[in-house]
Amino acid sequence: MSALALAVAERRLIAHRDGDVVGTIGVVPQPHGIGLIFPPQVVGGEEQAPVERLLIQGAVERLRLQGVALAQVVLADAERELAARFGECGFRRLTTALILERELLGLAAGAPPSGALRARACDPERDRADLVRLIERIGVGSLDCPELDPFRPAAAQLDGHRAACAGGASAWWTYAVEGTLAGAAFCAVFPETQTCELLFFGVAPEFRGRGLGRGVLEHVCAVAAGERLHLRAAVDSRNSYARSAYAAAGFRESDSVEIWVHSPGPTS
Ligand SMILES: CC(C)(COP(=O)(O)OP(=O)(O)OC[C@H]1O[C@@H](n2cnc3c(N)ncnc32)[C@H](O)[C@@H]1OP(=O)(O)O)[C@@H](O)C(=O)NCCC(=O)NCCS
Repeated sequence: MSALALAVAERRLIAHRDGDVVGTIGVVPQPHGIGLIFPPQVVGGEEQAPVERLLIQGAVERLRLQGVALAQVVLADAERELAARFGECGFRRLTTALILERELLGLAAGAPPSGALRARACDPERDRADLVRLIERIGVGSLDCPELDPFRPAAAQLDGHRAACAGGASAWWTYAVEGTLAGAAFCAVFPETQTCELLFFGVAPEFRGRGLGRGVLEHVCAVAAGERLHLRAAVDSRNSYARSAYAAAGFRESDSVEIWVHSPGPTS
């Protein structure tokens, strides 16, 4: 039997033997220096484990050569064997991410935020400098995957969120209290699935603990209700502050996934 070999395509690696494709894996470097690897698709049979291993190791090596500092894969809870395979290839489980959904039927569409919050639609290009500063402030003391912070400076995070909107429209908001920027929420809207994905939201440290996080989420819900969209978000299960704000704003936890990471090491 001839040896397994890997071929590189634009955003994937392809494993083949004797000209037959036996598996593929998606590999996508992100603007923020974290590379995404997707669960491998393998033909199956006896070769499943070695082909998966070859694809995963190949994907890590590809990211390493591209200068990516951290590789990340998101696995469904049921993908235990695959998780073990990633573990064999040097990945470690970072955390559980909870998927959150909000039923918007009957919600007042497009209502402005309550209390002291003032919402303003923003533009990632025009308002870039303000948004980068705001993302930096919101990152202080965050409980959302803080281990990733060294790999995702604020400017790169902004670029990552913009890239996530590439396939759809976007709804980006900042929130001020008495004229001072206090919070933000960035959404990607996908009209074909009628979905609004909350990519990022937060409140600057000096404004926390006053119900503003909940207020931001309620505003995002009201905007999505106006567009008749289904609203989804994700949160690190360890982020108790955000989970409280989501619960208070009527979100329910509908699913969970496991986040695994691996440092490919420097290029030599
Ligand atoms: C999560 C976050 C948006 C909450 O904002 P907030 O304005 O403080 O939200 P709320 O005032 O509505 O409070 C939410 C909960 O966090 C608690 N909380 C907020 N700050 C706290 C603090 N410093 N210490 C203890 N509890 C705190 C509140 O008591 C509340 O819990 P409760 O409902 O059980 O009383 C804010 O902490 C933040 O921006 N964190 C960093 C970014 C982040 O995690 N974003 C979410 C990613 S999915």
